[in-house]
Amino acid sequence: MSAKQRIVQVLGAATAGALALGLTACGGGDGGDDDGLTTVGFVAVGPEGAWREANETNIQETFTEDAGYELKYAPATNLDQKSQIDAFTSFVDEGVDVILLSATEATGWEDSLKRAQEAEIPVILLDRGIEPDDTDLYVTRIAPDNIAVSTAVADWAVSAFPDGANYFVLEGPAGVSVVNERNEGFDAVAGGQANLVKVGAQTANWSTEEAKSVVETVLKSNDNDVQFIFAQNDEMGLGAVQAVQEAGLTPGTDVKIATIDGTKNALESLAAGELSFVAEYNPLFGETALEVVEQVLNGDDVESSIVVPSATFDSPEAAEAALPDRKF
Ligand code: AHR
Repeated sequence: MSAKQRIVQVLGAATAGALALGLTACGGGDGGDDDGLTTVGFVAVGPEGAWREANETNIQETFTEDAGYELKYAPATNLDQKSQIDAFTSFVDEGVDVILLSATEATGWEDSLKRAQEAEIPVILLDRGIEPDDTDLYVTRIAPDNIAVSTAVADWAVSAFPDGANYFVLEGPAGVSVVNERNEGFDAVAGGQANLVKVGAQTANWSTEEAKSVVETVLKSNDNDVQFIFAQNDEMGLGAVQAVQEAGLTPGTDVKIATIDGTKNALESLAAGELSFVAEYNPLFGETALEVVEQVLNGDDVESSIVVPSATFDSPEAAEAALPDRKF
């Protein structure tokens, strides 16, 4: 089932679920303190890279007291899921009005989500999904569409390599929902191209340094016969650029590198001709999240998946045009 089918398919069930939650959401939390502010428990990822910093800063700058909110920010400890589950549990016990969750791991959330449901506290997923994707356990997920974003990378690769290429994939950490979705979208297109040959894939944990090390090894073990690298985020793509250069090859010419996120550093690298394609995964959806929270607490219908629009950049000129106003 495609992502789009899934979104359409779950709308009915989730709408009913959301409505039920929404109608009782106001009764869920105790309204927090008696200062009249809506209390929001944000179970966050914490320090992870430029995308995450932009996203979590945007959320914190949106849910302010002036806007009527008390945002309780709970970043994970070293990306550890147990610390997230502990924070989630504390928010339920505290009776916050709504929980925002950016999950470090896709699995292992059923018990926590059921506890929030029993406490009639609506849960909104930000960015990261859960697996299995039981849309009855949360109200909605707000994120760019990872399938569409990674499909755009594959479509670009097909056009960039009409005569084919050997390629390698730098993945994010195993067990993260967006990694599975990005593989799904990319493989759905690239997997059908006989002349695009996958020589391997390996996680570099969103890290520039780790990606550089992985690509150094890949180039050596393939006698530099790799023409394309798909990096599932910008930091890893920038590490691949460094490894290609240190191998005496020219990024953008000998080896084309495509990334996902669209952070300033990646666009500057694209403008310099090092990266070849950057698919934005827009982190700035705080306003959307606030609107959705208000809808949910008002008992309004909410779609089970809210897609954040994102652009693509396929040339130095496109990157140069975007950089002056880049907000992340
Ligand atoms: O979940 C979004 C991903 O997490 C971003 O693409 C990556 O940069 C971040 O670490």
